[in-house]
Amino acid sequence: MRTFGFLIHPLSYDDVLRYEPKAAGKGMPLIKKILEWMPAYKVSHVTGVRSLTGEEIEGYFIAVPLLPEQFLDLPRADVMGRIIRGANIAAELGCGIVGLGGFTAVVGDGGPTVAENCPIAVTTGNTYTIAAAMQSLFRGATEMEIEVPQASAVVVGATGSIGSACAQILGNRAARVTLAARNATRLAKLAHAMQPHVSAKLEWTTDIGNALRHADLVLTATAATSSVVEPEDLKSGAVVCEVSLPHDVSRRVATERDDVLVTEGGNIRVPGSVNFNFDFGLPPGTSLACMAETMILTLENRFVNYSLGRGVNLDKVLEIERLAAKHGFELAGMQAFDKEVTPQMIARARERARAARAASRAAGVASS
Ligand SMILES: NC(=O)c1ccc[n+]([C@@H]2O[C@H](COP(=O)([O-])OP(=O)(O)OC[C@H]3O[C@@H](n4cnc5c(N)ncnc54)[C@H](OP(=O)(O)O)[C@@H]3O)[C@@H](O)[C@H]2O)c1
Repeated sequence: MRTFGFLIHPLSYDDVLRYEPKAAGKGMPLIKKILEWMPAYKVSHVTGVRSLTGEEIEGYFIAVPLLPEQFLDLPRADVMGRIIRGANIAAELGCGIVGLGGFTAVVGDGGPTVAENCPIAVTTGNTYTIAAAMQSLFRGATEMEIEVPQASAVVVGATGSIGSACAQILGNRAARVTLAARNATRLAKLAHAMQPHVSAKLEWTTDIGNALRHADLVLTATAATSSVVEPEDLKSGAVVCEVSLPHDVSRRVATERDDVLVTEGGNIRVPGSVNFNFDFGLPPGTSLACMAETMILTLENRFVNYSLGRGVNLDKVLEIERLAAKHGFELAGMQAFDKEVTPQMIARARERARAARAASRAAGVASS
């Protein structure tokens, strides 16, 4: 049977306990130290991925057990060595391709160095993540009665691999798109290069809070290790599609803003009766889009370096969407803050946003 590998890592303290329940009660400094000593290892055998075509594949999850901030803070050569070791474990297990999950795709050059040092194909999974994120954002827009062609959008993490492709797609769907991140030089360069290829008016900013206050559509795809989207910054009625892992929408949004719709952008229902043999926090039968890309390529027998490095080919986004549909991969139900987003929650957000719009129109009439 054809086999894939996928590199995973804990995203938070709670996640470490999923990987190693015996860590409960140990403080963060000790846990970090222990993780620093731990090499990559096989976590689980994934079974039951069955395409609509009837074909079945299997896979392995391999942990590169570092927290996001450790991927960013430890010496680069050490971190890259651990990721390359993880990819080589996949090769030793007989996998034809290995997907780079979470920060294993963010650090360094986003894949090429791993591919050069591993005998099997490598993909970040970012191409299908972009497709899933856009589908998810537009599904949310429909639910919140947002007319995309008239809407203002913000992409937070716009200079990244996922963010820049999403910004370009949104640039031909929405009226205005603001590119947001921390580095002004990279933002200005991207806006200049992208503007001739999109119909929307493009702007850029490092003031993320201010950009969010005017946005109907928000897509977040940052490599931040703490919240960047705060409840006080969101426009009433906005849809926030969150791709980043760890999440960068503050958990306060869940309790303080019932007039906006937050949805995780990359959750995919896997065809067949998949058993991951590992709980990574999503409902049964649900994977991340980057994992799903690795599975789709395995079903297709496409053991090639598919998504690598920072630039993503938009033609491939259409291709992977087609292949996903062929094999029966589709967007999972909406989820945010580790919980299902129910139809009642969506209806409430829509009603609250309508009421806020009516109140602001009334205030406008009263003051004119
Ligand atoms: N859900 C899924 O299936 C899935 C799949 C793949 C990846 N992901 C996640 O998607 C995210 C983006 O991945 P990527 O490969 O596109 O990363 P990337 O290429 O490294 O881009 C990261 C972007 O975030 C910005 N950024 C970093 N820190 C920031 C901060 N503190 N505040 C604001 N912006 C910040 C960066 O620009 P500046 O440095 O200039 O700020 C850059 O624009 C990651 O969290 C990754 O784990 C999710």
